[in-house]
Amino acid sequence: MAKAAIRTAVFPVAGRGTRFLPATKASPKEMLPVVDKPLIQYAVEEALEAGARRLVFVTGASKRAIEDHFDSDLELEELLESQGKKELAELVRGVLPKDATCIYIRQPAPLGLGHAVLCAQPAVGDEPFFVHLADDLIDARTSCLKQMASVYRKQGNSVLGVEEVAPEETDKYGIVDVKGSKDKVAPIRSIVEKPRPARAPSNLAVVGRYLLTPRIFAQLVNVQKGAGGEIQLTDGIAQLMKREKVYAYRFEGKRYDCGSKLGYLQATVEYGLNHPKLGASFRDYLQDLMTSADRRR
Ligand code: G1P
Repeated sequence: MAKAAIRTAVFPVAGRGTRFLPATKASPKEMLPVVDKPLIQYAVEEALEAGARRLVFVTGASKRAIEDHFDSDLELEELLESQGKKELAELVRGVLPKDATCIYIRQPAPLGLGHAVLCAQPAVGDEPFFVHLADDLIDARTSCLKQMASVYRKQGNSVLGVEEVAPEETDKYGIVDVKGSKDKVAPIRSIVEKPRPARAPSNLAVVGRYLLTPRIFAQLVNVQKGAGGEIQLTDGIAQLMKREKVYAYRFEGKRYDCGSKLGYLQATVEYGLNHPKLGASFRDYLQDLMTSADRRR
């Protein structure tokens, strides 16, 4: 049976981003820019490319800037037009296409990712949906969520975006066991949140991309506090797997962990190098910098 397109994407954005303090004291971590776009805009663009038009943001304290970013700003557009800056006016207008709708739901307390996703249920309804964590920036020719949507069309079950991580880093991720399978798409046998390396079933980590069937909500309602004392999405998925198959998908693309300072800097440098207007001069600058650093050695 043909599967309907995924219409809804959920963006859990309630976290305080303490790793980036003081930058994130009054401004959401999702508004940190990589070159000239905030992380949350990359996230939304990825979901739009995958066909989603209903964008659900699960927000918390100090997240107003996200709503403002996706709202239209007629005053700014008029100002830019009056200054003859048509291109910039278009850029501001184009942040969100006209057929997309933003829905903001407040997570009443920071109870964990599983709880955040459950908060989105009234907006998602009884349909499969994407969950996108903006910290994980993925540079791909075809957006990662779009790749996952085509896996869903074939398998008809939930799909998690995965990649191998350093074995000593399993305690930062949800880790899946696909029993030795090297296939791009493989059914998951077990999933565990942030296991210590010695206890991890593998080093195949879920990065922040999920395509979930609506049955996940009934599981999340019953999930108890898990790793870190939080209601974990991973634990909800473990329950879901008792009722239906869940697939791991090794996506094509390069992921940057923009929740860490090093990952964020790497993304900034590489997106800078690939930027159509800045790339060439940025490359020259970096080369000069390296040459003078070599000379000083
Ligand atoms: C969350 C999830 C984890 C996943 C990770 C991906 O953890 O709980 O399963 O692997 O995102 O970035 P967090 O990074 O919010 O601690």
